[in-house]
Amino acid sequence: MVTEPPSQAQVLVASNRGPLSYTLRDDGTLEAKRGGGGLVSGLSAIGPDADAVWVCAALGDGDREAVRRTGGRPDPADTGGQRVRMLGIAPEVYADAYNGVANSALWFVHHLLYQTPLEPSFGPEFRAQWASYETYNRAFAEALADEAADGAAVLVQDYHLALVPGILRALRPDLRIGHFSHTPWAPVDYFRLLPDDIARQLLRGILGADRAAFLTHRWADAFTACCTELLGGTGNTTIGVHGLGADGDFLRERANRPDVDERIVTLRGQIGRTSTGEERKTIVRVDRTELSKNIVRGLLAYRLLLTDRPEWRERVVHLAFAYPSRQDLAVYREYTAEVQRVADEINAEFGTDDWTPVVLHVQDDFARSLGAYRLADVALVNPIRDGMNLVAKEIPLVSERGCALVLSREAGAYEELGEDALVVNPYDISATAAALHEALSMPADERAERAKRLAAAATALPPQQWFLDQLTALRA
Ligand code: F6P
Repeated sequence: MVTEPPSQAQVLVASNRGPLSYTLRDDGTLEAKRGGGGLVSGLSAIGPDADAVWVCAALGDGDREAVRRTGGRPDPADTGGQRVRMLGIAPEVYADAYNGVANSALWFVHHLLYQTPLEPSFGPEFRAQWASYETYNRAFAEALADEAADGAAVLVQDYHLALVPGILRALRPDLRIGHFSHTPWAPVDYFRLLPDDIARQLLRGILGADRAAFLTHRWADAFTACCTELLGGTGNTTIGVHGLGADGDFLRERANRPDVDERIVTLRGQIGRTSTGEERKTIVRVDRTELSKNIVRGLLAYRLLLTDRPEWRERVVHLAFAYPSRQDLAVYREYTAEVQRVADEINAEFGTDDWTPVVLHVQDDFARSLGAYRLADVALVNPIRDGMNLVAKEIPLVSERGCALVLSREAGAYEELGEDALVVNPYDISATAAALHEALSMPADERAERAKRLAAAATALPPQQWFLDQLTALRA
């Protein structure tokens, strides 16, 4: 078979979560729901006629039933025409790989989340989970090898699939393989918490790619340092950096649809007005509820603001949208409960008949999140560590109030937004409270100026560009 010129070659994307999910209805029919996100927008850049296949895992019962009925090739009517190969991984293998390895060990290492009493112990249980992680990665590599035309470009995503490039390289040396990490990368000493053989296997897996790319130089350098320390170098793999920005056109259009206007009416009711009739100011955060987002310390900083600066009482509302994720794992469930508990405590301590200091929503609602973005005076983004954090880019872009941004220096977005944000050490609750005060007190013209520059920086690298740049670099 003749290898097609690289520019014409097929593109494959591999990621744990695919572009759609299925729900099994009571009457036995399946409902397909298409998802959004950077990768979906990014892939749209290669156009509807391009030869592209997306390989993903079946995540829940609905997906697994869809795999059973379709042989893992969902109907194009459900996928919007996108060719999708959905893998029906055995539920026990999937649970071990996704919960046990990816979202416990790997997520915790890359986000520096291990601390007493949450220290890691890697014994026989972890070894069994690791075997599942290998099986799950092999299933992806074999499916990709099976789907790929000669010389195809394969873009493998994230920490779930770190072993795929190495396995795929052995199966199909003709392919151009890229790996992209959406997370931070751990510093060497922290990465070495993992058992030595597993740490090396993860690095060698990614180095099976022609190109390993990261969201910032900081994460790319940390990966290189790990390779140097554990393997003596990065071998023939090129290391790249591709920042990911907000999808400005999509967000601005979506944020002005009627369903968002409706949510704004409800939110305004919850925010309310001061006794002198002024509209209250807002501090907005929107996160998935997981430990790296540092939601509890954000709430504690807000409590400190209300304690130390009573002038803000009844004049500000914290809209905290914390959407539960990864609830199969106790540590994530407990964190979600802790967020709820601290928010309740603040409301009990400071709330009045017509002022609720924290409006906490845990039910995912994209239209409501966009409504909050539009009403934001201050955006609070204070992760302990984050690959990028797109919310930091989205809120200043959509806010109608020229919002100020309080941003953790540990978010990847800091590299691009640091100059116009109020930057905090995410562990420093006092400094975060002080930054919230400064943000709320900032003169309107200064806030508007900064918001304009933040919005420009936020859209400098739209997802389509991010995707095409990776592809071009991989094919070069
Ligand atoms: O932030 C890193 C990331 O891998 C994203 O790319 C992805 O959307 C998410 O985490 C995966 O988490 P979950 O499996 O909980 O959706």
